[in-house]
Amino acid sequence: MAGFREHSGCRWNFGLVGMILVMVMVKFTSAVPIPAPDLPDNCNSEERCCMPRPYRGKPVRQFEYDPTLPVRFRRAAHLIDEEYIAKLERGVKLQRELPDTDPRSWTNQMNLHCLYCDNGLYYPNQTWPLEVHNGWLFLPWHRMFMYFNERILAKLLDDDTFALPFWNWDNQTPEEPHANILPYFYARNKTSSLWNKNRNNCSEPPLTIDLNTEGGCTTKTPEELRIQNNRLIYTQIVTGAPTSNLFFGMPYSYGDAGATGAGTFEDNPHGTVHFWLGDPNPEKPAGPFDDMGNFGVAARDPAFYGHHVNIDRIWTIWKTLPGAQRKEPTHPDFLDAQFTFYDENADLVIVNVSQTLNRTLLRYEYEEMPAAWTTNGELAGQENNVTLCNPATAAETTAMIGAADYFSPDTVFFKDPITFRVARPAVRNSTGVEVLEFSGVDFAEPSMQVHWRSYLFYPTAVTGTSAACPEFAGAYNYVAHPGMAIFKGRNRKWRVALDSKLVALGKQNLSDIVVTLAQFGPTIQPVQFAKVEITYDTS
Ligand code: C2O
Repeated sequence: MAGFREHSGCRWNFGLVGMILVMVMVKFTSAVPIPAPDLPDNCNSEERCCMPRPYRGKPVRQFEYDPTLPVRFRRAAHLIDEEYIAKLERGVKLQRELPDTDPRSWTNQMNLHCLYCDNGLYYPNQTWPLEVHNGWLFLPWHRMFMYFNERILAKLLDDDTFALPFWNWDNQTPEEPHANILPYFYARNKTSSLWNKNRNNCSEPPLTIDLNTEGGCTTKTPEELRIQNNRLIYTQIVTGAPTSNLFFGMPYSYGDAGATGAGTFEDNPHGTVHFWLGDPNPEKPAGPFDDMGNFGVAARDPAFYGHHVNIDRIWTIWKTLPGAQRKEPTHPDFLDAQFTFYDENADLVIVNVSQTLNRTLLRYEYEEMPAAWTTNGELAGQENNVTLCNPATAAETTAMIGAADYFSPDTVFFKDPITFRVARPAVRNSTGVEVLEFSGVDFAEPSMQVHWRSYLFYPTAVTGTSAACPEFAGAYNYVAHPGMAIFKGRNRKWRVALDSKLVALGKQNLSDIVVTLAQFGPTIQPVQFAKVEITYDTS
């Protein structure tokens, strides 16, 4: 295809027989799981982020659980002591000292993350690069990226009990030490291996994290941020993600034109933590929001690891929330998808997604911490006792619906918020979760950020409107991938769960809903949607 650079490499790990098998499967079945890429040789030869060549390790092997490993106990970063910090610091220093020829080095691990998401990994004869964001591969891939990072540090430290700490930003407890600030050891000393220079000045400790950030600094008080953060996580992860596809993201199989839509959790708070920590200064070599707000270089910041261990931990909490559908996808294209990583000995290993799902066999645990977001920052049972930002009588609601036009695909969503009306199906599907589905999400510049929020029955919501309002229904956060110049023509979806929100708003019996979208952040892009409709998610 015109405009795409040549990509190299024709060797797959499972060889010619495997390739023929895949071709036969592509022809005769609707979908095939993503196969293990051949690292380093499937790297687009002219792109950045390739792994050291030639590969010098043992022949690639299938990952096996190691029952002899001690169970590693991952602690909250704000609670670890100086001895633990010194150990982490030493491990990262040793990792930074590994030579460029070693795929375990700090830079190569940053590049490995980049390779998997930023237009670097091409299977032979495929037009689209592999992408581990924006779809259901996101959580399992990052779990194993953390797993191997932890194992590499353990090896360098010669301590198999070593565990990565988690940055507990979802814990809004006001008592000190604060969990919802950047753990101070990432920022206290420029000579520390845990320090990173490309960051937002307003993310320095002791400033409270803004999970609804517009990039850069905020004028909200710590108390406002605590309330907002709990409610935002509640909307994204509790009411917004009652099914596996809503939480994990949309199905993504071999041959698809890129990943097909992020889960609510990946968009926000995962994406906004990246955005909050990145430097908003647009003069950085790779654009604004380096390092964390740019997937190509995000893993250069040691805080990336603290962040992603917490992402992994929240996945484990999500599974314990009420609701029968809070489980991992069971489709074979999910379970049998494969990744290739370098293990602690720099040997290549293939991991199936099904192998990432058993944490007991992976042998690590999490320290238990308060998570008030699971009940909206309120006492259990009081989740919906939050005042509406736009209280409307029945007559005002009817007028609001009457004043909104139905969505038109010609709408260009740009600097001004847009409001439209969506009809609900006359007959409800009682087994599925009602979802507002935007298909064919398209915007001008995929190498830049784009962010928006959605509100229900709140047409006056504007850019700065808080995610603490019960009308806030979900946020879209596309983190920049400067290498990812390919986005157009994708069937990417964005989805918002409606059931619990409509109940909380007292509007579950209306035949139409009113939706308002508002973009925010320094890069506002023209956005279009091919279709907006209500569907039922039974995943
Ligand atoms: Cu691969 Cu938080 O990113």
